[in-house]
Amino acid sequence: MKQPIKGFSKLSKEDKIDWLVANYFQDNSKAKDLIKNYWHSDQKLQQLHDEFIENTITNYYLPFGVAPNFLINDKLYSIPMAIEESSVVAAASKAAKFWLERGGFKAAIVSTKKVGQVHFTFSGDFEKLNTFFNKIKPQLFQDTKGMTQNMEKRGGGILDIELVDKREALEQYYQLHCTFETLDAMGANFINSCLEQFAKTLKGAAEVYTDFSPEDELTIIMSILSNYVPECLVKAEVSCPVSELNEDDGIAPEVFADKFIKAVRIAEVEPYRAVTHNKGIMNGIDAVVLATGNDFRAVEAGVHAYAARNGQYSSLTHASVENGIFKFWIEIPLALGTVGGLTSLHPLVKLALEMLEKPNARELMMLVAVAGLAQNFGALRSLTTTGIQKGHMKMHLMNILNQLGATQEEKIIMTNYFKTRTVSHSEVIEKFNSLKTIKQ
Ligand code: MEV
Repeated sequence: MKQPIKGFSKLSKEDKIDWLVANYFQDNSKAKDLIKNYWHSDQKLQQLHDEFIENTITNYYLPFGVAPNFLINDKLYSIPMAIEESSVVAAASKAAKFWLERGGFKAAIVSTKKVGQVHFTFSGDFEKLNTFFNKIKPQLFQDTKGMTQNMEKRGGGILDIELVDKREALEQYYQLHCTFETLDAMGANFINSCLEQFAKTLKGAAEVYTDFSPEDELTIIMSILSNYVPECLVKAEVSCPVSELNEDDGIAPEVFADKFIKAVRIAEVEPYRAVTHNKGIMNGIDAVVLATGNDFRAVEAGVHAYAARNGQYSSLTHASVENGIFKFWIEIPLALGTVGGLTSLHPLVKLALEMLEKPNARELMMLVAVAGLAQNFGALRSLTTTGIQKGHMKMHLMNILNQLGATQEEKIIMTNYFKTRTVSHSEVIEKFNSLKTIKQ
């Protein structure tokens, strides 16, 4: 039986690996070789990656692809995407080219407000608490001056602090609901530091507030930013005359527009479909968020909460035809940063941002929203015309061939063979083996 290990984090990297391979791998040397094979030969670069997290033993690669030809607000971009799923970059590129020829994407920021909360309980009377809060509110701003000065110089900072009575939801529960403008930073550290100071000030002031009686207990539960940012919102859209839609999929433009809009309507009213529909949107969004060093878990959590804001999970995109004009748009909350965090640390993140011509956070929000819209357009276009398997299977075939170690020549033969046939794992293996047999 395996024994727990004490002080694992204190072991050297080599010792961590030795312990792991000795405990979990049959073929010790093979596992160790593989782990080391993914180390970077540049020691400085490796150390940088080692230090991003704790207990690093090696690197985990994801493909870094590029989708060119994105015309956004009349400017041409090549969009970097870090993603493991085949077809995503191809679909984004195809959608970009389609809309390049039809005026491109238009995007705009709706708002950039971020939220953080101090959650606390208070056992006394609400009116007393409210009076106390209004008295100490200036002090909450004052005590965070050291943290907010720089942000304020650039036009950001704390926007407001409100006391919210949440007792209907939970006994004695109150919040300081705080809003922030964090400019080009995602702002997690800034917001959390401010919140923790608010909590200290709140608690400290309550302890010496003479109008509270000993029974008026104020207890801080926690202080943390919210990843739900419905007021950090961006919109992106495409539009063109219906007659200019879809010249190459063997379907009349009006029929295509009609099917497309119905597909979007289905995602608006049917949660089972909405989840998959939005998953496709997130294929594009996460890939750019990751490539640009942003927190895709935060984005995911916030986006899905937004998709359910009206009480039922629904589509993030919408479509219409009015006066012969097809319009397709997305409205999505995105808390992103182009300074701080990984953005100045990870060399590939720096490269991605340079490729995007060093956008500010607002510009990045627009680019990311467009990537999501493009991805959704590509998916719906395939789903309502040819089906998605056609494109997916091409990439699936390539993945299987790579697993089999096929040569370039074998890949060409196999791709030609499966052009008119359905790709299945077993059939690819069978055909591949027969190729090998013929050669021998
Ligand atoms: C697959 O990763 C994404 C799709 O399922 C999205 C969709 O169905 O809209 C193709």
